[in-house]
Amino acid sequence: MSNEIELPVRKSNLFFKPDRVLFQFGAVLGDGSCGTVVQVTCNQCAIPLVAKLVVLEDDDDPGTNFQNEIEISERMGDAGIGPRIVASVILPRPELHSTVGILIMEQLDFTLSALKQNQYVAKDILDVLLVKLRQMLQLGYRHDDLSVENIMVRTNKQSQVSNVYMIDWGWTTSHSPSNSSFDFETNAIIQTLRLELQQINF
Ligand SMILES: Nc1ncnc2c1ncn2[C@@H]1O[C@H](COP(=O)(O)OP(=O)(O)OP(=O)(O)O)[C@@H](O)[C@H]1O
Ligand SMILES: [Mg+2]
Repeated sequence: MSNEIELPVRKSNLFFKPDRVLFQFGAVLGDGSCGTVVQVTCNQCAIPLVAKLVVLEDDDDPGTNFQNEIEISERMGDAGIGPRIVASVILPRPELHSTVGILIMEQLDFTLSALKQNQYVAKDILDVLLVKLRQMLQLGYRHDDLSVENIMVRTNKQSQVSNVYMIDWGWTTSHSPSNSSFDFETNAIIQTLRLELQQINF
């Protein structure tokens, strides 16, 4: 694949000229089971960006799941629950018998697994996450793949955590929002994450 692509960008204020932008792919930042995340540069970008590149399985309709991930990522980014989404595309590559999905979003700083902080900060992070988990459930979604690898933070110049986001909406399911199960669900998720954090000596 070429290391640059021109795409229409979502209506957003991340750009000085928000119509079509030439994105250039750079260094690999992270590898998951499905995607590779690389740094992205472009002339008009006001903030650092990354691209999640996914080679989609060659089944009957390889774009459907990724299209779903794109739409949910956009909604979660707009709500401040995930990183803001800037552009996306699903490209059939018949010559390679595959399809490639690209999701361009704002860059975050550290996954929870990579962040070394004391317990007090860990508590703050989990408090912010609790609010965002409730918001997500109220919007009618369950992430269904939350772990210390799929939660990222933004840090400020003093290296303090300034915000917390969920990433990787590939396994997310929709449901009818019902307030009654929120506390039960969010508490269970937070408890699991707290244990995961203790295990990695947070
Ligand atoms: N917005 C971002 N900014 C910086 N790094 C990111 C960002 N999104 C993802 N990453 C890095 O890339 C890694 C993989 O991304 P992601 O979790 O979205 O894909 P994945 O794990 O391959 O997907 P899946 O869990 O569906 O297999 C993350 O764990 C993180 O290290
Ligand atoms: Mg992941």
